Amino acid sequence: MTQADRRFIEESFPVKEVSQHAAKEKTIRYGHISTLHIWWARRPLAASRATAYAALTPAAPDLLVWQGERNFIVELCRWENSLNLPLLERARRVLYAAHAERLSAELGKAVSVEDIAAGRVPPPRVLDPFAGGGSYPLEALRLGCEAYAGDYNPVAVLILKATLEFPQQYGHLFAGMPDHLWRKGKTRAPHAAGQMAFALNDSTPTDAPPPNFNPLLEAVRHWGEWVLNEARTELAGFYAGPNGETAVGYIWARTLPCQNPACGVEIPLMRQFWLAKKDKKKIALHPLSRGAGKPLAFEIVAQGQPGYAPWPKDFDPERGTVKGAVVTCPACGAVIDANTTRRLFREGKAGQRMVAVVLSPRPQGGRGTGGGGLPSPSGRGAGGEGKTYRLPTEADLAAYRAAEQALQAKRERLRAAWGMEPLPDEPLPVMSGVFKAPIYGMDAWGKLFNPRQALALLTFADAVRRAHAEMLAQGYPADFAKAVATYLALSLDMSAAFTNSLARWENTSEVIKQLFSRQALPMLWDYAEANPLGDSSGSFSTGQEYYLKVLDHLTRIPAVPGGEGPHSQPLPHKGGGETLPSPHVGEGSGVRDIPHVEEGGWGGEGARVTHASATRLPYPDAFFDAVLTDPPYYDNVAYSYLSDFFYVWLKRTVGHLYPDLFSTPLTPKSGEIVAYSQGEGGFEAGKRFFEEQLAAAFRESARVLKPGGVAVVVYAHKSTAGWETVINALLDCGLVVSAAWPLNTEMQSRLNANESAALASSIYIVARKAARQGLGFYHEVRAELRRHLDERLQRLWEEGVGGADFFIAAIGSAIEVFGKYEQVIDLEGNLIRGEALLDEVRALATDFAVRQILHNGFAAEISDRARFYVLWRWNYAEARVPFDEARKLAQACGLDIVEEWSRRGSPLKKEQAFVRLLGPHQRELEHLAAGRELIDVLHHALRLWEKGERAALIERLSESGYGRNEAFYRVAQAISECLPFESKEKKLLDGLLTGRTRLQEEVGQPRLL
Ligand SMILES: C[S@@+](CC[C@H](N)C(=O)[O-])C[C@H]1O[C@@H](n2cnc3c(N)ncnc32)[C@H](O)[C@@H]1O
Ligand SMILES: [Zn+2]
Repeated sequence: MTQADRRFIEESFPVKEVSQHAAKEKTIRYGHISTLHIWWARRPLAASRATAYAALTPAAPDLLVWQGERNFIVELCRWENSLNLPLLERARRVLYAAHAERLSAELGKAVSVEDIAAGRVPPPRVLDPFAGGGSYPLEALRLGCEAYAGDYNPVAVLILKATLEFPQQYGHLFAGMPDHLWRKGKTRAPHAAGQMAFALNDSTPTDAPPPNFNPLLEAVRHWGEWVLNEARTELAGFYAGPNGETAVGYIWARTLPCQNPACGVEIPLMRQFWLAKKDKKKIALHPLSRGAGKPLAFEIVAQGQPGYAPWPKDFDPERGTVKGAVVTCPACGAVIDANTTRRLFREGKAGQRMVAVVLSPRPQGGRGTGGGGLPSPSGRGAGGEGKTYRLPTEADLAAYRAAEQALQAKRERLRAAWGMEPLPDEPLPVMSGVFKAPIYGMDAWGKLFNPRQALALLTFADAVRRAHAEMLAQGYPADFAKAVATYLALSLDMSAAFTNSLARWENTSEVIKQLFSRQALPMLWDYAEANPLGDSSGSFSTGQEYYLKVLDHLTRIPAVPGGEGPHSQPLPHKGGGETLPSPHVGEGSGVRDIPHVEEGGWGGEGARVTHASATRLPYPDAFFDAVLTDPPYYDNVAYSYLSDFFYVWLKRTVGHLYPDLFSTPLTPKSGEIVAYSQGEGGFEAGKRFFEEQLAAAFRESARVLKPGGVAVVVYAHKSTAGWETVINALLDCGLVVSAAWPLNTEMQSRLNANESAALASSIYIVARKAARQGLGFYHEVRAELRRHLDERLQRLWEEGVGGADFFIAAIGSAIEVFGKYEQVIDLEGNLIRGEALLDEVRALATDFAVRQILHNGFAAEISDRARFYVLWRWNYAEARVPFDEARKLAQACGLDIVEEWSRRGSPLKKEQAFVRLLGPHQRELEHLAAGRELIDVLHHALRLWEKGERAALIERLSESGYGRNEAFYRVAQAISECLPFESKEKKLLDGLLTGRTRLQEEVGQPRLL
């Protein structure tokens, strides 16, 4: 990289503001891609957009420009501005100007912004080889780049196509578009903010569809309704209650027979009995026990709600019948231990019982609550408003039994039609700590559904397949019909996520929660079954509403020059992007197929999705201007196993349309970059595999990156342990880190004393393709390091980066200096190891932080131990800290952690793998009284102050010499500022400091320290 081509993100980044917008985005649902389909650990769009822009835009030449750009990035990344066209146009102009300059140099001829805007030369090409749910490529597209997205997982590939490719291809008029859509469809409002200057004008022949007509949106709406109607015809009877009333949901408890021979009743397994647990609405199921051997009955009780039984005295709904896997019989009090519970489940002794029916007072067709338990996008009806509950009647049970019967016939019919077992019979393995449900006998994916849920999903799946056939019969272009069917299939997935026996009843908002609230499948004893034909959370129509919002959003993203898009002239249809021929990419297929990618001319639609392993990319060398990516991290998320839940359904709904993607029984696992420990060689082998494969992927990314290109890699693990490993892995692969910015997208409050120190939620590492120089001399490298860090630390500080993140970011940006050299040696020719340089960085960062914390004064006057104490409190407050982290902090302060905690009366305390720094009230008074260190005296003084022993306090302060020493009070003040409001230590410090002036007077003349 040349100094002239520095990027904004390599110099500074609005960490705090972007973090805030990213955190806020988590509450947004309408139109957000997270509602298109579940993908685990999606990155916020705000963070992706801001870092993408800042990585492609040049560093500011002066303060004024810098301030302007910084503000612009903050505005640009807000969710509300996602479709703000003037803002996007400005962003694209800036990026294109920088890109034109780079391209001119690269191609040896003048390239202008207009050349890019007119599609004569390609805009920046951006790759995400681990694209997942697609946040980075989507933002690259929004910023006017050609976005290339790859993932190893077929489910992710489909999501990516639906997010990136189809909306760009079919969100606007196209030749061959089925005309029944626009003849009946609605025209959407034109963009409020006007059209992009880069886009071509619409040309509208007479008797043609309206120019803003959106065929994709209308087709998905139309066929979604078609599917729902088909399903309704078949299914309505199975949800009919007494007197023709229709429920929105049912609450079920699994059951076990009591093992007490004198009892034997069916025990409903319930964690708790609440149905509605809100401030103004308290409703619960109340078990009525009539003694051992007598079947258990329920009544529904409420506090201050009409229509329910009164609240029984001493009834606590929190106390359920099962905790962990230990079951207590409410009839006789006998207990079933956890092992027996599991055995009984495996032996098929468990049953289930419908315990409550949920009703919505609104007529069907009104709106309940939306997906994920949020209000519907139509805005009608807040969560759970007006829901009522009753006990099941014989009619409810009869409807359910009828569904059980119908399932058999349905399965047989579909088995013949589809040529495979319709209800997913693929195995669901036990995975320690991840998949627990299979321990209880749910060992095939189809076993996660009760018979009525299975019937409903099969009916919808069947309707989706028939909708596709119907589209073809009506003469739809095959690729368009395939795209529409894909959305229907993805939306069936979302229904499945709500329609299974691991979906929870959320009693605080009275909605059903889908099964993946965690990245795991824990066992759930009591579950909620949605009526898929209803209008509440988990219903098909609620899913559709969310769908149409996202599609509307995605199709409004302006076209990328050179491609088709909402604002370009209708072009003859070119066909969708193909997937790679083999799903076993990364396993040595040998060929590098480069689909539709030609040098010098982009003939695509702005986005290209490939099914490829990041270790084997189907692109030529030096092809991309940027690689922006968020790779997997060790065993954080078991993507392939989790996604099998959806894969088995997608295989059945659209598998025949994507034979390459669905050629394997379950998602491919062998080339997935992840550290699974269940294989041969256990944890160590899994870890090694992950590290080797990630390194291979980094090498591959470096290969396809242009020499002057930039990479942004998200590091998203809540531990500092792997940080240096990641940096070294990048270095080994030919990428040098040039900056690192921690984005705290979780907005967690300060750590409390019971938590362990953790990093911000993710660190965005900026790296460049290294043109490594040979030898560097230590003294020179060190001097350069100091200069570089001085400026960088100041920036980090100004951006509000604090605590452990500060050190991480400091180390990240320091690598840029010494990562340039193959080797660093001292004047005697000794090799200086990387660790020595990192120690140096840590010491510099420590020094800087202490100076800042003490507001620039006195830093040099205080001892290493006092510095250590202050830094600890600043970094971790009162949390305990992993040993290695504590060791490094101590070392940076010139202390040896082991020596320190072995010292008699030391404030450091070892707790297994962690270290804790004790506050004044946690230490022995006799040690405090004997100590000579500033912190010992301070702690002693605090204790004396607390007890009101004023004379002793004055004596201690004057005898030690600290009492009139300004640094002493400054340190006390700094520690207080580091601690959370509720901290006891803080309260003591604030107390002592309030009376500080008087104290100083009473202490008298200063003595020598
Ligand atoms: C952290 S996720 C990306 C999430 C994404 N940034 C988002 O916002 O949704 C990592 C992705 O890497 C994919 N992956 C795992 N092994 C891979 C490989 N060998 N090649 C390509 N992708 C792989 C996983 O399927 C997963 O989607
Ligand atoms: Zn019993």
